[in-house]
Amino acid sequence: MPVIIKNAEEIAKMRVAGRLAAEALDYIGQFVKPGVTTNELDKLIYNYHVEVQGGYPAPLGYGNPPFPKSCCTSVNHVICHGIPDDKPLKNGDIINIDVTIIKDGFHGDSSRMYAVGTISPQAQRLINITHDSMMAGIAAVKPGATLGDIGYACQQVAENAGYSVVQEFCGHGVGRGFHEEPQVLHYGRKHTGLKLEPGMIFTIEPMINQGKRHLRILEDGWTVVTKDRKLSAQWEHEVLVTEQGHEILTVSPLTGRP
Ligand code: MF3
Ligand code: CO
Ligand code: CO
Repeated sequence: MPVIIKNAEEIAKMRVAGRLAAEALDYIGQFVKPGVTTNELDKLIYNYHVEVQGGYPAPLGYGNPPFPKSCCTSVNHVICHGIPDDKPLKNGDIINIDVTIIKDGFHGDSSRMYAVGTISPQAQRLINITHDSMMAGIAAVKPGATLGDIGYACQQVAENAGYSVVQEFCGHGVGRGFHEEPQVLHYGRKHTGLKLEPGMIFTIEPMINQGKRHLRILEDGWTVVTKDRKLSAQWEHEVLVTEQGHEILTVSPLTGRP
């Protein structure tokens, strides 16, 4: 399957889906506190996507085994694809909430890190550097640049800070499909890989580990954890390649910032 170049009509729908994903992440922030369970957050996300936004949560029933919930909640040493459950969050936890809404046939996929109560300076630094890594990758996006340029930029920021980049999971093309081509690695070499063209839309979603990059997948078939049980963080945006450079489709309507 080739990379799908989106036309103006498709881009307009992706802008809507992206905004809704960002709005859902803005909405959920107020509920992330010590004592809340990730199942409670999941129900809030389901209801918001369906009742308020008139869309549907793409994670629900996705893949094999079917993902059982409406969003991913990845706490502390969980790298990604954490399954919401009945365990309450506790003061000092860090959590990634990854939402994907399907609206009018198109996917809005974005994730952010949230602090539960007061977190350690080390955890806050990991969150900040991971955001810097994502933004460095986004800054590399323009026509004529390559996927390798994006990966290189993400990797430089993470490794210069003493962290490691997860290699087994990556960003992806997104549109009518949840996961389209191309694969967007968060490590790589400059001037290598696919050349970017206007109308491409893909996610950049680096997973950055405090310790080593190695991971393990739990028996549930989804939950990805660090082998060394150290912290991991992730942020995710959808990015459109424009004639001028790029446009982030999942900017927070609340703060106006990525
Ligand atoms: N939202 C994730 C991504 O960024 C994919 C989650 S798949 C699920 O690509 F089934 F776990 F939801
Ligand atoms: Co994604
Ligand atoms: Co996602």
